[in-house]
Amino acid sequence: MEKKKFYITTPIYYPSGKFHIGTAYTTVFADTLKRYKTLRGYETYFLTGLDEHGQKIENIAKEKGMSPQEYVDQMAEMAASLWKRMDIQYDDLIRTTEERHTKVVQKIFDHFMESGDIYKGTYEGLYCIPCETYFTETQLVDGKCPDCGREVKPMKEEAYFFNMKKYADKLLKAYEELDFITPAFRKTEMINNFLKPGLEDLCVSRTSFNWGIPVKKDPKHVVYVWLDALTNYLTALGYLSEDDSLFQKYWPADVQIVGKDIARFHLIYWPIFLMALGLPLPKKILVHNWIMMKDGKMSKSKGNVVYPELLIDRYGLDATRYFLLREVPIMQDGVFSPEGFVERYNSDLCNDLGNLLNRTVAMVNKYFGGIVPQNVGQVNEVDKEFEQTTIETLRKVEKEIEDLEIASSLADIWTVISRTNKYIDETAPWTLAKEEQTEKLQSVMYHLIENLRKIGTVLLPFMEKTAWNLLKQIGQSKEQSWESIYLYESMAENTKVIEKGEPLFMRLKAEEEIEYIKEGMKHK
Ligand code: ME8
Repeated sequence: MEKKKFYITTPIYYPSGKFHIGTAYTTVFADTLKRYKTLRGYETYFLTGLDEHGQKIENIAKEKGMSPQEYVDQMAEMAASLWKRMDIQYDDLIRTTEERHTKVVQKIFDHFMESGDIYKGTYEGLYCIPCETYFTETQLVDGKCPDCGREVKPMKEEAYFFNMKKYADKLLKAYEELDFITPAFRKTEMINNFLKPGLEDLCVSRTSFNWGIPVKKDPKHVVYVWLDALTNYLTALGYLSEDDSLFQKYWPADVQIVGKDIARFHLIYWPIFLMALGLPLPKKILVHNWIMMKDGKMSKSKGNVVYPELLIDRYGLDATRYFLLREVPIMQDGVFSPEGFVERYNSDLCNDLGNLLNRTVAMVNKYFGGIVPQNVGQVNEVDKEFEQTTIETLRKVEKEIEDLEIASSLADIWTVISRTNKYIDETAPWTLAKEEQTEKLQSVMYHLIENLRKIGTVLLPFMEKTAWNLLKQIGQSKEQSWESIYLYESMAENTKVIEKGEPLFMRLKAEEEIEYIKEGMKHK
């Protein structure tokens, strides 16, 4: 039987500076879903990339005395090495300056000119150079760019437009019929803010800068950034190229992840481009909120930018991934603070998870010479309830991952961890040992190890190294199947736990580390 397939994408990032934890968040999120689906037996394809054209990149390169190509090449190396450092298992990283992309964008542009979807006009508006976006008077905030707060300039140029209006009704119909936007309130936002007031046509070419893909039939124009950028999700699969087998296999995408600031482009223009190409829409577009700082957005001028390396180098990749995934619920912004990071590390990772493993392994060594007892049934008063709540909570975890509620799924994995810690208190194994209630003691040790195995298995997509470290300490070095988390079966006979395990996480001295992170935020 053919395997089920799963195609997931991140936005393609602007290589306008080093990536901060916000960019890392989107990528880690996608990576976790890819790993989860792979674990569930899907054939997966994970695409990320870089959005390398546009005036801003041209300007930055000039400031650095480099050609735009030299600059983006350097940044592409930065991106690849960061993703390697973060163990991101992407299948492809597309760069919009690659020929495989530019050639196809030209074809698509030509096609839209021929089909009449693109027409020539004049663009007038208030332009924000860093954001490469025109705004109308009413969109400005205090007369400045609503996105970055900088000055805007009135500008006018000959430009090509995409006839969005033509597709407005069809888009609304798609919103009604296909449930492709998560969370649903983003759809309402689009309808109220952009569709009801009347959809504007989108300017898709520029003559005011050169760093872009030339329009084949009118080369003084370059393709303006969103038509260039959005189509990456197709060109990376070989759409309209000699070999489009990946495209045939993986389109439509299963999940496309985007941040709230680019929701409009992905929920309005992207589906319309696809409709105009006669292609099916993605099955899900997930719009996530942002990681904020206590004093608002991260910005270099405020000196509050956190780069992933600051955390990874000192606290490890898994703690960093854990924090990012746990702290940003999809519907609201999350907050990064050094205090919050250290608290999560010490309390969730070190105390709740690390200690559960250590205590359990120590007891199995002490009471059973390191051998995990077989399942003797539900012999303690609490066993039945313990098994039931564990399984129920794990089912919830699975549903949350499927619903892309990653922060909630992690919170519920921690519910299982806490429940397992509580089971130790409830059953008081030290008393059972003293009273020589061997069967009950066996049951407790079996249940603890089995729950740790379940916890290790569900943690694999989120923090692989930690999950394997845990699993190995309880004598599990073989591949784990997701489905097995719902069963309480005996382990292989003579499964042996480690004699003396290394702690998964070392306790941090809170004040020192908070200072360390604060300093690091200032200097980089
Ligand atoms: O928008 N928290 O690229 P980009 C969470 N090139 N996510 C954040 C964030 C934060 N603090 N800051 C940024 C672009 N992001 C375009 C995309 S796709 C065809 C073209 C997210 O590098 C942001 O929401 O400015 C977006 O999803 C992503 O990082 C890339 O932003």
